[in-house]
Amino acid sequence: MKIRRAVIPAAGLGIRFLPATKSQPKEMLTIVDKPALHYIVEEAVNAGIEEILIVTRRDKGSIENYFDRSIELELELENIGEFKLLEEIQKISNMAKIYYTRQSEPLGLGHAIYCAKTFVGDEAFAVLLGDDIIYSHKPCIGQMMEIYERYETSILGVRKMERDELHRYGNLQGDMVEDRIYGVKKLIEKPRKEEIYSNIAVLGRYIITPGIFDVLEHLKPGRDGEIQLTDGLNELAQREMMYAYEFEGTRYDIGDKQGFLEANIGFALRDRNIREGVIEYLRKVTGEYGK
Ligand code: G1P
Repeated sequence: MKIRRAVIPAAGLGIRFLPATKSQPKEMLTIVDKPALHYIVEEAVNAGIEEILIVTRRDKGSIENYFDRSIELELELENIGEFKLLEEIQKISNMAKIYYTRQSEPLGLGHAIYCAKTFVGDEAFAVLLGDDIIYSHKPCIGQMMEIYERYETSILGVRKMERDELHRYGNLQGDMVEDRIYGVKKLIEKPRKEEIYSNIAVLGRYIITPGIFDVLEHLKPGRDGEIQLTDGLNELAQREMMYAYEFEGTRYDIGDKQGFLEANIGFALRDRNIREGVIEYLRKVTGEYGK
């Protein structure tokens, strides 16, 4: 069965990015010329996802406005003859069928995913977290959908990480079953040093079977007092087979300031219109600061 639906949780308070996120959603912070969330939706659409549910919270109306049509803007662009820009703007509202639901209390990622139960129904679905932007030839979630088609069970997107970074992510115990693919035995959310299972971190992309909802319904709060998706997946992995796949591509962790800037520089260098100027500027400032 093909994966047709994706869930994008976007209900966080953006605390790590204050004050920028005091009056705007962190998902709407710009990477070069598009909000971060645009990159995530684009990844899902390019992988063939047909319907997307974005889990928001109050004060995040600008997300809905962004993916909706803006008739006044379209008329104005037509009047002034900016047809290329007009096409680009219209494309945004035609990207996919996007639905919204609200998580009314910040109870954790597992709870945000539980809010998608009705939308998801009884098919396996994709989850894309907004803090992980992945630049790759084949969309990251598309790579995972191909693995799903072979294994027909939950697939977690993973990467090997340095030991001192592992405490920031979901962590995995498993055995390699083929190149880049692991059978998942256990998972732990943001392990302390002595709890680390391996150097494999779970990084913001998931294909999950609907069995997760039975688990999440009864799941107790875990790390940081939140209902953790990783804990839910750990329980699911005891009930059914689960695999992890080391995806290909460049990953940016835009959940922190350094990663956010790296993403901006990375995408600026891929933009033909500004690449040369950016390189020149970086040479100049790195030279200045190198002195
Ligand atoms: C979330 C998940 C964590 C995962 C990470 C990937 O954590 O809970 O398991 O490794 O995303 O970016 P967050 O960074 O939202 O705290």
